[in-house]
Amino acid sequence: MSFDPRSTPVDRRAEQELEARGLRYRQVDPSDQAAFDAWSQADARGFHHPRPREVDLVHERRVFADRLVRGVYDPASATPAIPIATVSSWPTGLSVPGGRSLDAWAVSSVTVAPTHRRRGIARSLMQAELRDAASAGAAIAMLTATEATIYGRYGYAPATRMATVRVDRRRAHWIGADAPGRVHLVDPASLRELAPQLVRRAVSRTPGEIDRWPALLDRVLGLVDPESERSRSIRAVRYDDERGETQGFATYRVVRDPDRPGVLESDFIAAATDDAERAIWRVFCEIDFVDEVRVQLRSVDEPLPWLLEDARAVRFDDVGDHLWLRVLDPVAALSGRRFGGAGTLRLEVDDPLGFAGGAFELDASTDGRAEVRRVEGADAPGSVPVGGSRRSRQPHGLRLGVRELGSMLLGGVRATTLARAGRVVEHSRGSLALADRLFSSDREPALTIWF
Ligand SMILES: CC(C)(COP(=O)(O)OP(=O)(O)OC[C@H]1O[C@@H](n2cnc3c(N)ncnc32)[C@H](O)[C@@H]1OP(=O)(O)O)[C@@H](O)C(=O)NCCC(=O)NCCS
Repeated sequence: MSFDPRSTPVDRRAEQELEARGLRYRQVDPSDQAAFDAWSQADARGFHHPRPREVDLVHERRVFADRLVRGVYDPASATPAIPIATVSSWPTGLSVPGGRSLDAWAVSSVTVAPTHRRRGIARSLMQAELRDAASAGAAIAMLTATEATIYGRYGYAPATRMATVRVDRRRAHWIGADAPGRVHLVDPASLRELAPQLVRRAVSRTPGEIDRWPALLDRVLGLVDPESERSRSIRAVRYDDERGETQGFATYRVVRDPDRPGVLESDFIAAATDDAERAIWRVFCEIDFVDEVRVQLRSVDEPLPWLLEDARAVRFDDVGDHLWLRVLDPVAALSGRRFGGAGTLRLEVDDPLGFAGGAFELDASTDGRAEVRRVEGADAPGSVPVGGSRRSRQPHGLRLGVRELGSMLLGGVRATTLARAGRVVEHSRGSLALADRLFSSDREPALTIWF
């Protein structure tokens, strides 16, 4: 993807739309401390976070150094140096079924000040992001959403689900297979060097995971503000396989009232193998003086209940959507993943914003690779015979919107389910069953961070 954060100009159309309302749409250089810190204040305010301290700003400057950072300014406001709207974005990899990584455009920091809401400012910014992403060559734009009602109008749709896993530790009698390696309790800082490479391997195993930015690991390991109460309470476990090679790590902390058993909280498990994942869960379930284990942002397909004698010791709470995808280039997005078998399927995609609309033919072979091409005119869906083989008389095709395509892309929802909701229509009997098979994924898609 061609991209340079410092030389990518702001979208002209959005600039004009905002200019017409007396507002200025500007690029913010993260190395310009005063401008970036003011932007950061607005970002924190938008999400109702506390005002950032200097230690937070130092970290943020690193996080955003490689990102496009944009603000909208109101010269007539009481604090004209602080933007009344913020957005940031960067190109990054998205793991797709088959273990490959797709060029995607991550969008974050979307805020509009309460004094300026519901005047179409977010709309201008979000549409500009889609144009920026498409012109940089991203197959997909993606985000995580505070509310499920904001982004559908721009073509985004939920593609993964998440849950908070809670374990009643007193009932958690382990029956899972022993991992052949060893778990070590380690100083979190000792993981900093090996973490990026290990996390990269872990991320590639699950569709829906995105590449982690290096500074995120500093936050996870408590290195941003090491003397804070929170950082000092972070503990880490590392799993080394039978050859002594590190295959996973996790951080956790135990929160408790005086004299009472605690709650073990974790929001970061990086496991490059199933053994590592099992070994880490086992440690969490076998720490004494802890009543509950609570791990956020886990897959709804977590194997944990199958590792305990009493599967009901595990609860999946707060199940909900997490990663939202917006397909921009169906050919690149579809041909990037591997499919669940052979077959030919036409997809007639409707996109009101004009990025991804059209008819596409997906021709998958038994090894899961697919050739995808745009088809037009006489080639359009339903007008020529298509099916399991090119000579078949039975056309297999679906009509669907860009949002449905985004939700199906990683295998997070079946075409059949969307058809039951009236959101996907099959051209001929058998098309939905074929789509279900092709789009299935070996692993439930999941994203285990916010961005
Ligand atoms: C979400 C937010 C950025 C919207 O900004 P905004 O400038 O008020 O949005 P717009 O005026 O451009 O609204 C465009 C459309 O989205 C709708 N919309 C905006 N925010 C919405 C929300 N929170 N819930 C439902 N609909 C919303 C508007 O009603 C409008 O609808 P229309 O298509 O029928 O006209 C703003 O409310 C905000 O900063 N919220 C707090 C921070 C946050 O949650 N950010 C999202 C991060 S993922």
